[in-house]
Amino acid sequence: MTRPYNYSAGPAVLPEPVLARAAAEMLDWHGSGMSVMEMSHRGREFGEIFAHAHDSFRRLMGVPDNYKVLFMQGGGIGENAIVPLNLIGRTGKADFVVTGSWSAKSLKEARRYGDAQLAAPQAPERAGEPRYVSIPPQTAWAVRRDAAYLHLCGNETIDGVEFFDWPQPAALGAPDVPLVVDVSSHILSRPLSFEGVGLMFGGAQKNIGPAGLTIVIVREDLLGHALPVCPSAFDYATVAANGSMYNTPPTYAIYIAGLVFDWIDAQGGVQALEKQNAAKAALLYACLDGSGFYRNAVEPQCRSRMNVPFFLADESLNEVFLAGAKEAGLLQLKGHKSVGGMRASLYNAMPIEGVQALVGYLQAFERRYG
Ligand SMILES: Cc1ncc(COP(=O)(O)O)c(C=O)c1O
Repeated sequence: MTRPYNYSAGPAVLPEPVLARAAAEMLDWHGSGMSVMEMSHRGREFGEIFAHAHDSFRRLMGVPDNYKVLFMQGGGIGENAIVPLNLIGRTGKADFVVTGSWSAKSLKEARRYGDAQLAAPQAPERAGEPRYVSIPPQTAWAVRRDAAYLHLCGNETIDGVEFFDWPQPAALGAPDVPLVVDVSSHILSRPLSFEGVGLMFGGAQKNIGPAGLTIVIVREDLLGHALPVCPSAFDYATVAANGSMYNTPPTYAIYIAGLVFDWIDAQGGVQALEKQNAAKAALLYACLDGSGFYRNAVEPQCRSRMNVPFFLADESLNEVFLAGAKEAGLLQLKGHKSVGGMRASLYNAMPIEGVQALVGYLQAFERRYG
């Protein structure tokens, strides 16, 4: 069976060998007589699955020893509340850099739990134009020295704005302020530095596996400051003390994540994926930039390698474009409803052939309608 190419922003394409292996192991995992979905999370079999996923993840990410890796539920939007519930109590304040829709949402949610404010100018709304197309220059940032943390979204999935280096709190005049980074949509797409980072979080449903699993990597000295109202199931210290088994973790999603980590190893690890991802993104951006018919508005130095939003010069052709794409076996190219246009997500599991097929379609469509 030939599967179409799937450019969904998430839940997103998974490596085919992972799906095939999960299918083969569905009814009977390794002679246990059980599906992974039917196992106790405290049993020996799932213990093995969990340890494999957890240890593989730490190794692939190069997580330093003084950080805990937590497998939780709640998703990225859940973390928008869970992070301040756990961290803001240290000083009552948190600062945010807004470079797109997800960091804007994080700021709004954090305001429910303390004094959360912008540390850099937020792009104004522009009628008929994409709002977020750049990262404000660090010379314009003002981070409070007593902020409990500085939040940023490493890759804005909707707007296509990516940080390629984390800003360093010391260079911003706030050396004791740890970074909190939402890495939901570029985790494992390339090596991510832990320099200056207190916490990273990400939902699994882009580069890791099914929705339902949320991974949190937190520096140990930040544990133990949860606000009294923080639900115990979301208190990082409690989750860490119980090895992510305080409540039932999303067991099947963790199992699939472990299979995806095996697949990443087979690709040559995160460094190899970075090369592939850079080549894939370069191909698509070159096609968009080389045409007067399509347009991506994001400044080149912060263009996302994972999510490429673009617009047709004549937006009345959008539906024709999407219908033709579907017919050509290119699925889920519609842009997020808040920005419109198109969006191609090029996660790890999207092969270069999928980008070549998309470029071929873009060029053919332009020849016909341009
Ligand atoms: C960067 C980022 N953060 C947060 C979220 C929210 O994730 P969820 O819907 O799993 O809560 C998303 C979802 O697409 C995202 O891309």
